[in-house]
Amino acid sequence: MSPVLATTRAALAAARARLPRPVVLVPTMGALHSGHRALLRRARELSSPDGSLMVSIFVNPLQFGPGEDFDRYPRSLEQDLAICAEEGADVLFAPDQAEIYPGEQLVRVDPGQMGQVLEGRSRPGFLPGMLTVVMKLFQLTAPDVAVFGAKDAQQLALVRRMTADLDLGVVIADAAIVRDADGLASSSRNAYLSVRERATALALPRALTAGAAAARGGPPAVRAAALAVLDAAAVANPPLVPDYLALVVPETFQEVPDDASGAALLLVAAKIGTTRLIDNTAVMLRARADGRGAQPAARRRVQWS
Ligand code: PAJ
Repeated sequence: MSPVLATTRAALAAARARLPRPVVLVPTMGALHSGHRALLRRARELSSPDGSLMVSIFVNPLQFGPGEDFDRYPRSLEQDLAICAEEGADVLFAPDQAEIYPGEQLVRVDPGQMGQVLEGRSRPGFLPGMLTVVMKLFQLTAPDVAVFGAKDAQQLALVRRMTADLDLGVVIADAAIVRDADGLASSSRNAYLSVRERATALALPRALTAGAAAARGGPPAVRAAALAVLDAAAVANPPLVPDYLALVVPETFQEVPDDASGAALLLVAAKIGTTRLIDNTAVMLRARADGRGAQPAARRRVQWS
């Protein structure tokens, strides 16, 4: 059955009032792919047997910087509606820009310290813009639960923090990263890649796999193993242009010290042509049984921030 399509706040409010709880929301920017489908399935599970699934599709101008891909971001509402129907969504909220931002958006959510690093440093405005629209979507849809993907790890961590710090009363659930058959994390932006660019882009998941496999050697070995893969891709044709590689504490997004053990997140961002991609993986660092420090990181051939 097709979901109710609401494009205005009034239509959304009317549809929301009829939904049995728990209401589970999956916020997206559309161009839905297998990664989004996994979120919809997780949401369906969380809402079953009697609750409801809402999906929002809104390409949020506030989270795109000047020169980024807001204008060319893929938009495919017809196809998205069909996917929402297949996955059993009850309501699809797909507002236009004026509906979400009827006037100038003066007040924005400040992500604080965790928003200054990685994506926050590379894309100023992205994280405040993202948190602001998530906050507005929560206010408009009043969900009991909202589902976010581990693919956007810093986004997920910040949405969790905002929900806790601002007492939003929404349960934040997560879904694991979905990858295409070749290992590249599914993303709406993969549509921009040529065949050759995609071959270069595979260095992202390969670097993460190499890094995770070196976990026994400690953080410097993890970074060195991942960097070796990225360095090779940086001289490929077409080349991968580095943005960051980071091994961080999952709760704070601060770099882990070289002698750290326990759970960490290895994150990478890079550009191939005009397409910017991000990816990450969990790394389980173990304390070395022999008590010796880890090996020093290999010399970097390209400059990573
Ligand atoms: P979008 O990029 O459309 O992603 C919507 C949700 O799908 C996010 O929670 C994202 O982490 C998840 N997702 C995307 N690709 C995934 C994959 N390969 N595996 C698992 N989950 C994946 O993220 C946004 O939109 C926006 O910033 C938004 C939160 C909607 C606010 O505008």
